[in-house]
Amino acid sequence: MAILMCRPDHFDIEYEINPWMHVDVAVNHSAARQQWDALYNTFTHFGETVELIPQVAGLPDMVFTANAGVVWGHNAVVSRFRHVERQGEEPFWVEAFERLGYTVHSMPGDISFEGAGDALFVGSTLFAGWGFRTDRAAHQIVAEQLGVELVSLHLVDPRFYHLDTCFSPLNATTVMFAPDAFDDESATVIRRTIPHVIEVPPEIARGFACNAITVGRHLVSSLASERLNGQFADAGFDVTALPMSEFMKAGGGVRCLSLPFDVGTTGA
Ligand code: ARG
Repeated sequence: MAILMCRPDHFDIEYEINPWMHVDVAVNHSAARQQWDALYNTFTHFGETVELIPQVAGLPDMVFTANAGVVWGHNAVVSRFRHVERQGEEPFWVEAFERLGYTVHSMPGDISFEGAGDALFVGSTLFAGWGFRTDRAAHQIVAEQLGVELVSLHLVDPRFYHLDTCFSPLNATTVMFAPDAFDDESATVIRRTIPHVIEVPPEIARGFACNAITVGRHLVSSLASERLNGQFADAGFDVTALPMSEFMKAGGGVRCLSLPFDVGTTGA
């Protein structure tokens, strides 16, 4: 595995497209850089290869590489952003996926799809969120383009506007998720289809605890995840809890800043 990241050289809050963003709340740029460096160093410390894409000036949210698209095998489905503010990123993500050796697919028409922000694999099944950024119609299309089984989940709380803010696969049989972010039917589907679930209360999820990624048995997340240490230990994970305050001002955390992809299948 490798991880695609984008150094925050032009990161800022220049518009408001989710409830976390406020243009009058300034980003502390040196703190943002330190927080991003700590994440980068955590990945390399755990033996991951990090691939970088340069941030383009005028695209402040490009740091959130999870939103580039979703990858599986040698295929990538590139995002079609809901908001015009992020649509300028799309050609740069196409270029990045092509450079990494992927066959790139895209959404037909004007269907919105926001990549790994709203589409995460548990084992070989794709769990996809809809309700805020990704259109429900995108799910079946992505599943067909990738040739995978699909479970659609309905997001209902605007603070948890992307699936990766409230749902995180820890391994092929374990997820952490915030039930309050989903409608009852979707929360039930998660509990029924995934053998081991760690349920996260909304006050902890609000600290971006579910915006997590695992590197083997190491779970990397925001500071709020420390409050779940006991449950993670029981599930066999140790936790690296990192300050993410500057990126939370944009509505993002650890997972949003990271797009895992498989080096082996891309030849990268
Ligand atoms: N400001 C960005 C947006 O609203 C944050 C994206 C966070 N990314 C994520 N994968 N949840 O689009």
